[in-house]
Amino acid sequence: MTLRLGLLGAGIMGRELADAITQHVEEAQIVSAYDPYPLARDALCKDFDAEPAPSEEDLLRRADIEAVLIATPNHLHCEQTLAAASAGKHVFCEKPMALSAADCDRMIAACERAGVKLMVGQSTRLYPLCRRLLELTEAGDLGDPLFGLGTCFFPGFEDRDSGLWHVERARSGGLFFHMAIHQIDLFHALFGPAARLQYSGGHYGAAARDFDDVATILLEFQSGATGAISVSSVSPVDSTDVRLIFSRGFACLDSPWSYLEHGPEADHMTRLTAEEAPGPGAVEMELRSFARWVLHDDPPVLTAAEGRAAVAVAEAADNAKSNGEAAAIS
Ligand SMILES: NC(=O)c1ccc[n+]([C@@H]2O[C@H](COP(=O)([O-])OP(=O)(O)OC[C@H]3O[C@@H](n4cnc5c(N)ncnc54)[C@H](O)[C@@H]3O)[C@@H](O)[C@H]2O)c1
Repeated sequence: MTLRLGLLGAGIMGRELADAITQHVEEAQIVSAYDPYPLARDALCKDFDAEPAPSEEDLLRRADIEAVLIATPNHLHCEQTLAAASAGKHVFCEKPMALSAADCDRMIAACERAGVKLMVGQSTRLYPLCRRLLELTEAGDLGDPLFGLGTCFFPGFEDRDSGLWHVERARSGGLFFHMAIHQIDLFHALFGPAARLQYSGGHYGAAARDFDDVATILLEFQSGATGAISVSSVSPVDSTDVRLIFSRGFACLDSPWSYLEHGPEADHMTRLTAEEAPGPGAVEMELRSFARWVLHDDPPVLTAAEGRAAVAVAEAADNAKSNGEAAAIS
């Protein structure tokens, strides 16, 4: 049995998804793709032996397509998921799930009503070293996770054929929705649900964008743990890491997920590099799971509820910035 897929969005991530399906998911196939930028659409279709769709509606009308992969700019995720659900298609939607928790709720409700499955590609928790960190945390040898410090620093968005949607709040959501949503989701996997946050940020770079380019949230989790996540698009150096204090140890996942160190004290740390970490890559794992969920009803490795929880934190960051006070996470 083969899962026949339609792809919306033939940009950087659309290509990565198509490549992962073709290379690693024997049970699925990209049948057709749509992108309003015809050169991108046609090049992807040629490379992955798919049919170019003249429009989103045409793609969704095809009876031989059972599920869609959505890899479009962030502000389109909600409406495209609603359209796919009403056409009876299962949905794999890239992160961030949407630009508000209310839109996430609409997506979940529409998919439930239509009897279709919805997975959100919060892939970071599936990286081999992140999986190892989560296994270690669950095993409890280091005790309870008490505090986490996460950074997501990068030098800015590269130019791309699809334009400047990344630098507009209305289309990307800003840095917490677009970039630090990965750290937020990883922190949820480590600490459980977040309850409240405070915000601090500023605009330091020359590039025109209508959101802060350096920002930090201080998080309180329902478990009593606390954390901080800082994100910046004006760092001269890429630096993505997570440092964790446990009740009986320490762990550090270093930039960008290239090695994991953990142990009870400085003299007894174990180090594992990305090359040494076993198992499939994150994108391969999420897409294989999506196909198996749709075809065989196997439990999914990622859920829409997790996607929604991460969006609620990014939205609370915006609320805390606007109101100048701590925001509850709904
Ligand atoms: N999981 C990850 O680690 C990861 C990494 C990168 C991007 N992403 C996500 O993937 C999505 C795409 O990001 P990207 O970096 O590929 O951006 P991109 O700009 O390279 O690609 C987006 C594509 O969508 C197309 N598009 C615009 N409107 C469309 C429409 N109505 N229907 C179909 N296609 C449309 C654009 O023409 C463009 O080709 C974003 O949501 C982003 O957050 C996830």
